[in-house]
Amino acid sequence: MKGCVFSTVRIFDTTLRDGEQAPGIDLTVEQKVKIARRLADMGVDVIEAGFPASSEGEFIATKKILEEIGDMTEVIGLSRANKNDIDKTIQSGLGSIHVFIATSDIHLKYKLRMTREEVLDKIYENVRYAKDHGMVVEYSPEDATRTEEDFLLTAVKTAIDAGADRINIPDTVGTMQPFKFYDLIRKIVGVAGDKIISVHCHNDFGLATANSLAGLFAGARQVHVTVNGIGERAGNASLEEVVMGAKKLFGFNVNVKTWMLYETSKMISQMTGVPVPYFKAIVGDNAFGHEAGIHVHGVLENPSTYEPLTPEEVGNFRRIELGKHSGIHGLKKILDDQGIYLDDISLREVLAEIKSMADRGEKITSEDARRIALKYVTH
Ligand code: KIV
Ligand code: ZN
Repeated sequence: MKGCVFSTVRIFDTTLRDGEQAPGIDLTVEQKVKIARRLADMGVDVIEAGFPASSEGEFIATKKILEEIGDMTEVIGLSRANKNDIDKTIQSGLGSIHVFIATSDIHLKYKLRMTREEVLDKIYENVRYAKDHGMVVEYSPEDATRTEEDFLLTAVKTAIDAGADRINIPDTVGTMQPFKFYDLIRKIVGVAGDKIISVHCHNDFGLATANSLAGLFAGARQVHVTVNGIGERAGNASLEEVVMGAKKLFGFNVNVKTWMLYETSKMISQMTGVPVPYFKAIVGDNAFGHEAGIHVHGVLENPSTYEPLTPEEVGNFRRIELGKHSGIHGLKKILDDQGIYLDDISLREVLAEIKSMADRGEKITSEDARRIALKYVTH
């Protein structure tokens, strides 16, 4: 932890670019603007609004987002390392550009059909071109984590020599593991001088959050994320998990208003049509759910017995559920909340009825508890 406690990490949100790249997610310009405003209100440091050269709709959406929230937060657009894309991004009015070109041999051979020397020339030429047009430039060596290390370091240095302001290291197909990523980011931080190093992790092995946090711990000062982790294939690192992990587990400062996380998650889910998993950390509906008697008792005495963070700090809710594992304390709380106060003997009888319903596979609601309990209320 030495050296990183209390430093601030920049949250670069790419929900509207990498998130929207996922199959089946197509947002209208109005939806994109609405989401961008919410992200800006929530305090993210950079919003990747889209890929202006990819379609007229993206161009218009980027322009509109910039007009609406450009005074609140940095807005950036993705661009391939070519002048046409860069020009289009400049025409959209953006002052920041995210230029990428792949550096791994597999991408060079099968996708770009270029030599390493040609890729280095492209990096230099296009980063320089964007800088000469007054842009803030973030450069990404796509598929960085499958790139031969010396070549990756050369690519990073080339971008810096050409004037790049930030270097983002993508784990494009999510094959990193936290210890290796930590070592890699330390090396890159070591050659980057005062330039900000950023990380961008995909979730193909379920490690996007762990790798992102390892990258921050290694000295990266910015992290790319998407709301709910939406994105290509298994998605990107989730904003909610990375923000809360960075803050609560590693002691970093983040500018995000964390109490807006749950509502934002719901909003993106509703607009994209992609449900939030019930067990999703931080924003899942069961993230603060309790049924087992021992847990409920503990949480009612002191929430930190079984909650490592409070639902209030992320805008989520504590849910005490009833089922076959319930105990008397949980039941009492659910009934008390409905203004029904029973003595211990009656409570136990209600609980027995609830458990036998649960044993028959029935789902018990607080309405059920109320209905059963009312039979025991004496007037
Ligand atoms: O995953 C990736 O490599 C990307 C780049 C465009 C940064 O999204
Ligand atoms: Zn990506």
